Amino acid sequence: MRLQVYLSKAGISSRRQAAVIIKSGKIRINDRSVSEPSFKVDPEKDKVYLNNERIFPREKVYIMLHKPGGVTTTKKDPYATMTVMDCLPQKFSHLNPVGRLDKDTTGLTLLTNDGKLINKLTHPRFNIEKIYVVKLDRRLKQEDRVRLEKGIRIEERCTAPCRIILGEKSNLEITLHEGRKRQIKRMFAKLGYKVKALKRIKEGALDLGTLPTGRWRFLTEEELAKIR
Ligand code: URA
Repeated sequence: MRLQVYLSKAGISSRRQAAVIIKSGKIRINDRSVSEPSFKVDPEKDKVYLNNERIFPREKVYIMLHKPGGVTTTKKDPYATMTVMDCLPQKFSHLNPVGRLDKDTTGLTLLTNDGKLINKLTHPRFNIEKIYVVKLDRRLKQEDRVRLEKGIRIEERCTAPCRIILGEKSNLEITLHEGRKRQIKRMFAKLGYKVKALKRIKEGALDLGTLPTGRWRFLTEEELAKIR
């Protein structure tokens, strides 16, 4: 494995930043200083040190969290009272949340240190399906449902077609293939509705199921195979 890759796997930095760190001479492998980013490391045998502290390439970790309300989807925010990172044990502080839910939105949130997967799940090109349960301030009219499903203009451009299944009273389920900022709230607001509660229950092949609010679990091998 290239030294640059080793550093990024150890969660030290991105690959690009790793090259800068390596060139600055802070890395030692076994007993010699190495400043070449493409230097080959054998993770089984070599001991790699950054500023004299041993570093290890980390396993990839995939966690599903049932995000509670009042929690910010960010890694660090000096203004947030609580972030998704506070919902996990400290040993997972190297993970990153995939995408964003609003502070008051609850539900399925994925956290991982797999940069490739983060890119895949968040890039518009991959069109990952997301399903939300929505509670409105009043029942959605049939004609408004049709307008929303076709796509409506919010600010700069139209939303992509989506699917809405009406539930009891003012509840419904909406399936989106895009993730613009505050998209669902803005879609309904455009037609004069207020979103009273919003919960993400599915993202691609992942299903929140019965995971209780505020709890987390590792993804199963089967789930991983599907989302990969
Ligand atoms: N749409 C919103 O308006 N908010 C979310 O958190 C997710 C989708």
